[in-house]
Amino acid sequence: MRLIKSVGSMKFWSDETRTRGRTVAFVPTMGFLHEGHLSLVRRARKEADAVVMSIFVNPLQFGPREDFTAYPRDIRRDITLARAEGCDVLFAPSKKQMYPGAFLTRVNVERMDSVLCGGFRPGHFEGVCTVVLKLVNIVRPHVLVLGQKDAQQAVILGRMLRDLNTGVRLIVCPTVRDRDGLAMSSRNSYLSPQERERALAIPRSLFIARKLVLAGERRVGPILAQIKTALSRGGISDVDYVAILDSKELAPIESVRGEVLIAIAARVGTTRLIDNIKLRV
Ligand code: PAJ
Repeated sequence: MRLIKSVGSMKFWSDETRTRGRTVAFVPTMGFLHEGHLSLVRRARKEADAVVMSIFVNPLQFGPREDFTAYPRDIRRDITLARAEGCDVLFAPSKKQMYPGAFLTRVNVERMDSVLCGGFRPGHFEGVCTVVLKLVNIVRPHVLVLGQKDAQQAVILGRMLRDLNTGVRLIVCPTVRDRDGLAMSSRNSYLSPQERERALAIPRSLFIARKLVLAGERRVGPILAQIKTALSRGGISDVDYVAILDSKELAPIESVRGEVLIAIAARVGTTRLIDNIKLRV
């Protein structure tokens, strides 16, 4: 595996790889790798001749009162894990490489970036879209591999890739969960054992919702009510949102039909967690 830190070298590698007729799959991350990230690499290896993973904690997508400085980092461990998983390149640029001097451009996907997390993290998806478009222009992949864990991010980035004619194919992989059901996340490292126990109410409430739908419930209202009850019973009171939406357009719906997304964002202690399930009826 090659560790590349400069934008110039990354571009050179990509140009050369493309010239040799090899296809490239790209897995962007912010590091502190876990099984969720690694599952994306495994899928990427099946989709292209070469796999590039990036690790960059992107300041642009953190709000002024969010955890940019505290965000967990362990690049040495990440290098070992990425190598063991068969990445061809680990691209780990510095902040200066990605944002040298004055940086004035922003990429927005309208409407979709103001619902769900967008309502609670102003500017977040603008930061995500801007950095991912930059990374795509540097890595020039044929395929981009993302996780369903960040469902809204995947929908928004998919729309950006399409709207801006990047020609990049998007693959979204299922959420990887720990044995107790909690969706893996770098931010889980913030949780105390007691908080982690409480956090389990999030996946539990989603599974309750899935059961209700499987049992024939189609009305959004009662499903939302049951989720909220399960969360509060589990000791989670600080809920940013519980929502049931059309999974492709992220538009509100009144009854469950077609493919729907059930999404939750809640705080456990000071840690903000998100989770979701997708259901097809
Ligand atoms: P990060 O949170 O590190 O996630 C990187 C990728 O891993 C994303 O596509 C995310 O959806 C996926 N992922 C995270 N946890 C997962 C899990 N439990 N199961 C499956 N996939 C999972 O998302 C970001 O970084 C950033 O916003 C980024 C896209 C890199 C832009 O900065």
